[in-house]
Amino acid sequence: MTITQPIWVFGYGSLIWKQDFPYLESRPGRITDWARRFWQGSHDHRGLEHDPGRVVTLVSAPGVDCHGRAFLVEPEVFEHLDHREKNGYERIAVDITFESGSVRGVVYRAAEDNPAFLGPAPLAEMAAQINRCVGPSGANRDYVLELARALRGMGCTDPLVFEVEARVL
Ligand code: SIN
Repeated sequence: MTITQPIWVFGYGSLIWKQDFPYLESRPGRITDWARRFWQGSHDHRGLEHDPGRVVTLVSAPGVDCHGRAFLVEPEVFEHLDHREKNGYERIAVDITFESGSVRGVVYRAAEDNPAFLGPAPLAEMAAQINRCVGPSGANRDYVLELARALRGMGCTDPLVFEVEARVL
């Protein structure tokens, strides 16, 4: 997908709380038909090659809203974002809904067929893995706690994120 003008990027994981990229504007928003899941493995940020952490991706979920934060970015920002999200994520087009209406934007999603995909696991197992794993970007646990904090700060509810947070605590 070639991007030639500023476009909205929807963040639903670390992009919500870790902005190491410039943006023109940011707004809380949601995307529909997608659910956030801790199903993506991370050996480049929150774990190691032989012991990957768990980070979020999106799974198809008709009628379900995923709440997050969108950022309006210049095209050149994608060089950095693509590198940051390189471990299995690809950019896909998506409709992002704000209070003021909808825009067409992009989101980074790690599909089921990427090599780092882990898929579902019992919550207790997931929490143990998250508590154990640390990678170049820090503790996997902090990823979860920061995400939960950011969602709460925006007044968003995501029972799964809050459940995983409670278990890692
Ligand atoms: C995102 O935050 O939108 C993508 C997943 C991540 O980097 O945690």
